[in-house]
Amino acid sequence: MKLNHVVASLPLMGAAAAVEMTRYAAASDVEPAFATYLKELYASAEDTSATETFTDFFTPTGQLLVLGHVATGADAIVALKQQLLPAVGTKHWNHLPKATTVDSETAGQKTYQVLGVIETRFDGGNCSQAYYSSRFTVTKDAAGAAQLAPYTGGLAAYDEFIVDPPESPTHIPCGTL
Ligand SMILES: *[C@@H]1O[C@H](CO)[C@@H](O)[C@H](O)[C@H]1NC(C)=O
Repeated sequence: MKLNHVVASLPLMGAAAAVEMTRYAAASDVEPAFATYLKELYASAEDTSATETFTDFFTPTGQLLVLGHVATGADAIVALKQQLLPAVGTKHWNHLPKATTVDSETAGQKTYQVLGVIETRFDGGNCSQAYYSSRFTVTKDAAGAAQLAPYTGGLAAYDEFIVDPPESPTHIPCGTL
């Protein structure tokens, strides 16, 4: 096979493209490291075949919550992920995070809120978008710093509590502000 054919077929293999952070805007009390953390987390979430690369972010009892559906622990998290984004790879996600703030903080954990746009594209179908609000609760280390190294098991909860409109595909074309 010629190299250009190999390159052309790469997106069909479910390889996640780099997450675009062009609209990301964080409040001053959000650590700069959170941007990279979020970028890596979304890259794993968008990779249709990702299992451990996604669940490695979570604590052993970590939770993925999507519009009230609750998955606790790695097996349930993978099952919910694959229910929303099948591993066969004909549905694709693209997260575009925007305003990011600190929602709450305790001695043991810090919760960030991220507002953004999620684009959904189906092979052979259209690209439509929805607006999401999510909260990420990250545990702190002994020194009181949020554990923002990707893939190191510090994520206690990823809670996507608003997706508007909730259906997929939506009636809103991708690229709408
Ligand atoms: C995308 O396709 C679906 C299903 O055909 C349709 O319901 C939806 O309105 C379309 N969205 C856009 C933005 O064209």
